[in-house]
Amino acid sequence: MPLAAGNLLLDAYQNHYAVPALSVHSLDMVEAVIEAADTSNSPVLLQIGQRAIRNGQMQSLADHIVKTAANYKIPVGIHLDHCRTYPQVVEALYAGFTSCMMDASALPFEDNVALTQKAVETCHAVGVPVEGELGAIGGVEDDISVADEEVVYTSVEAAVAFVERTQVDSLAVAIGSAHGMYKRAPKLDLQRLQHIYEQTDVPLVLHGGSGIPKEQIQASLKYGIAKINFDTELRLAFVSGLSEGSRQFPDDPFSMMQFARERLKEMVYEKISYCRLEEVTNGGALQRS
Ligand code: G3H
Ligand code: ZN
Repeated sequence: MPLAAGNLLLDAYQNHYAVPALSVHSLDMVEAVIEAADTSNSPVLLQIGQRAIRNGQMQSLADHIVKTAANYKIPVGIHLDHCRTYPQVVEALYAGFTSCMMDASALPFEDNVALTQKAVETCHAVGVPVEGELGAIGGVEDDISVADEEVVYTSVEAAVAFVERTQVDSLAVAIGSAHGMYKRAPKLDLQRLQHIYEQTDVPLVLHGGSGIPKEQIQASLKYGIAKINFDTELRLAFVSGLSEGSRQFPDDPFSMMQFARERLKEMVYEKISYCRLEEVTNGGALQRS
């Protein structure tokens, strides 16, 4: 169907699941991700980040998402990931994106508020929701690199003020996740997340989804996490599929690519399953995990 307009995260927030936000870097990745989300019957955001934009793919990926989504029934959105400048927000609106992240988290609080407000004003004029970010999430993603000693967890008070002043539609929080693969297993600060959840009224976003254990993701769903970003593990799955596929099908580009797409789809199935609270039985009584 046509792209889903409006804020896909609201239903997730109210019903304690998360919309998977999956980074795409090639046309084949777009098709594989939408196919897998459709098989899982999950809404999905395909995110286009700074690496893909630097590679000159903003419009071509967006166009391909529109074309591919038209063949499926699940809600699909195009999300701008980690945008740092106002002109890029405008460019994304022209390119047909359905939601934008304004990541001004590296700026001082007042500057973050001002730039995010500006993005919100423009995006809301055309019905596009905006994600803001507060705090400093560790790790490396594209052109953003935050060393361990530079990580700043989101403060509850600042989050309340930020949401109120910027009118963002969702908020990315720094609670112990990191971009890229983890050196050691992360430990999300769920207590901090719970406080932010109780004192704000917008869907919360978890970045650095690759490598976070399932139990921690499931626990975060109880406290307002309604969008989870995954990039690194998807890229690695696809690239390892390409390399193994090229060994198995050295003279057959189609089969090689199919092999890589299946590898990526397996990873997408797993991550989508993390985004839904599981029903578990305990002593015969059905309860939420
Ligand atoms: O914005 C994108 C992400 O936060 C992805 O993080 O590469 O650790 O999965 P990841
Ligand atoms: Zn991120």
